[in-house]
Amino acid sequence: MKPDTTVSIRPLSEDDSLEELTELLHRAYKVLADMGLKFLATWQDVETTRKRISNGTCFVALKDDRIVGTITFKMPHAGHGVAWLDRPDIGHISQMAVEPAYQNRGIGACLMKHAEDHARAQGLAELALDTSEQAHHLISWYERLGYRFVECVQWDVTNYRSVVMSKTLADG
Ligand SMILES: CC(C)(COP(=O)(O)OP(=O)(O)OC[C@H]1O[C@@H](n2cnc3c(N)ncnc32)[C@H](O)[C@@H]1OP(=O)(O)O)[C@@H](O)C(=O)NCCC(=O)NCCS
Repeated sequence: MKPDTTVSIRPLSEDDSLEELTELLHRAYKVLADMGLKFLATWQDVETTRKRISNGTCFVALKDDRIVGTITFKMPHAGHGVAWLDRPDIGHISQMAVEPAYQNRGIGACLMKHAEDHARAQGLAELALDTSEQAHHLISWYERLGYRFVECVQWDVTNYRSVVMSKTLADG
């Protein structure tokens, strides 16, 4: 399957609407809400979106000048309360979403690769993420992209236990 070469990825700009980005997150994460999994992105308000991207780099995928996907990258920082995520050489991605009508055409994989290339360019050793331990389809997808299980964690804001997964970046 060839990736859609008409999709481009760039950092979120000040002209982009956080309201629309939040609505995109809600639409994409609805499938998880329907599974009973209260990911923050299933219900977060615009201020929460703003806060979650404020200390990171939010990338957006564009198709025909419309935002159809997003991922947020964060440099290593302490305070996660999870040993692996607190390491100084491990970046973290979150708020990963593709507009439902545009899923299954490689945009998600392109966003992941973009974040990985960005993390590698920062000299980081690993890129980590977390998801629900009940989201077997996502865990399988991340495994196919090269991520491995690290540890489980229970966040305050979620109604499920999460798995932390990580990918070694060195080999590209
Ligand atoms: C997870 C998510 C971001 C993936 O985005 P996506 O754009 O659908 O992902 P991709 O298209 O790259 O990959 C999905 C599948 O599409 C298919 N696919 C990939 N490229 C394709 C192409 N060019 N043409 C047709 N199909 C393709 C593949 O079957 C692929 O799975 P595989 O590579 O493991 O076999 C998206 O499903 C989503 O927004 N989900 C809801 C929110 C969510 O779960 N976020 C993560 C929370 S931790």
